[in-house]
Amino acid sequence: MNSSVLAGAATAPAKLAMPVTTDSLLQRPNEHCSFVIFGASGDLTRRKLIPALYNLACAGLLPEGFHVYGFAVTPMDDEGFREAMGQAIRESHEATSFDARVWNQFAKGLHYITADFLSPEGYQQLLQRLTTAEQASNAPANRLFYLATQPSFYADIVERLGSSGLANKTPNGPNWSRCIIEKPFGHDLPSASALNTSIHEVFLEDQIYRIDHYLGKENVQNIMAFRFANSIIEPIWNRRYVDHIQITAAETLGVEHRGGYYEEAGALRDMFQNHLLQLLAIVCMEPPVRYQGSSVRDRKADVLRAMVPINPESLADIAVRGQYGPGIVEERNVIGYRQEPNVRPNSNTETFVALKLMVDNWRWADVPFYLRSGKRMPAKVTEIVIQFKRVPHLFFQLGQDDQMEPNLLTMRIAPDEGIALRFSAKVPGPEMHLRPVQMNFNYADAFNVKPATAYETLLLDAMIGDSTLFNRADQVEAAWGVLEPLIDIWAASKPFQPFPNYASGTWGPPAADALIARDGRSWRNYSVTSATHPVRHATAHVEHTGEPIGARRNRGDSGTKRE
Ligand code: BG6
Repeated sequence: MNSSVLAGAATAPAKLAMPVTTDSLLQRPNEHCSFVIFGASGDLTRRKLIPALYNLACAGLLPEGFHVYGFAVTPMDDEGFREAMGQAIRESHEATSFDARVWNQFAKGLHYITADFLSPEGYQQLLQRLTTAEQASNAPANRLFYLATQPSFYADIVERLGSSGLANKTPNGPNWSRCIIEKPFGHDLPSASALNTSIHEVFLEDQIYRIDHYLGKENVQNIMAFRFANSIIEPIWNRRYVDHIQITAAETLGVEHRGGYYEEAGALRDMFQNHLLQLLAIVCMEPPVRYQGSSVRDRKADVLRAMVPINPESLADIAVRGQYGPGIVEERNVIGYRQEPNVRPNSNTETFVALKLMVDNWRWADVPFYLRSGKRMPAKVTEIVIQFKRVPHLFFQLGQDDQMEPNLLTMRIAPDEGIALRFSAKVPGPEMHLRPVQMNFNYADAFNVKPATAYETLLLDAMIGDSTLFNRADQVEAAWGVLEPLIDIWAASKPFQPFPNYASGTWGPPAADALIARDGRSWRNYSVTSATHPVRHATAHVEHTGEPIGARRNRGDSGTKRE
């Protein structure tokens, strides 16, 4: 969340700083607002949106007179919607524990309209209900529309919001309209540009909130705080000190019941075009002028524009795709992707991707970025690992058992949000022996508070009119532009190694290890030995010099006593 008040010249309405304690400084939006969800009978509404809104209600952060209008084709009335949403909150792992007093108040504001997304009648009915409620409470027509439908409906819904008079071109001030649009935004560069063009017919860019829930995660927001609010970090955050950066988003889940969607998307569109490239942009961006929508987004867009286009000729060296077969995940036998519901039995959709990317600018030239994401991996982990260069000269005379490892900074986004720094330390005793040790910051321990869910943060930001954590049209198109050559080539060719090419419960196809090993490096794989003591190990004992660790250790004198 943003401290636009503290930043001074923000154009968005004011909001106070982030919730670091339970008696947080956050204030509720002071403007009335109706929240309309298109696709209200779907999974996202039940699992994410309503629990997030309910949590905001529990924290007293919804505006006075807040109402939700669900809009979907599944027949339901207001009562049925309330019942289904009450159930969703009780079952949700993300919702604050059920509080009948808050729920009763919240439920009164839930309404439902059964209508087809394409027929004008539903929009007229919605307009009438909104207008009646706004007039009855003498409230402005502030309306936040959320598109949680299949992406193929986005352009049509927006067109009808305009033609029915439900939306106007006012981003802020009385009678504002704003529109949150779920990912995926387009399925390639031309379709994303076409979607931007048609949405701009109805909404100004300032009214459009393209959501990427990763940007609402606490430790993703913290990357900027860590980089730009600490004077010791920024000087080493560049090609002079950083050897390479790894970004991993691994999931133990398969595609579950989303086979239909996933068959069209695949891992490249589902995770890379948005989440992973956004993480990379935040890690690489230059300091913005202020913490505010356009400044932050300008700097992130610069990174995406500086990325070296994927060269089709070197594709085999920098990109690997995979698909999971049957295997064992979390001690359970699981089926392969091709056996999942709504998946073609000979599908070549990728469920794993590893890429080596480069950012061609002053700060990052020649620093490789290794990105990977996959389903049915051994652990649920999202993290950014920054490996620093080795010291230029080591004058300690190390023994056989000494371990000299480069410094690693790990920004963990899930699980156990936090930051860890690995550095070398002297082993206690009379001799000078070295061993890597770790310094940990963990959100839960440091702040003693459960971080807000990403959707809570982002929905509140949209109500307040703060777009800092949302994607702008040019960013979305730049991200598609980075991946476009790969999308085209993979669509037109069969995988090099027939699918499935990795067993569920493994870290992806061997080719992904080979991709990084070619540069003399290895993935930092997260493994959970117990729920509370995660450890990491490299997949191969080869470091960036290309020398085996043992060889380096054995070089020179060993085991000499400290002077
Ligand atoms: C979504 C993808 O955007 O992110 C899913 O569509 C994926 O396929 C999910 O499972 C991962 O999000 P998180 O927050 O669990 O890392």
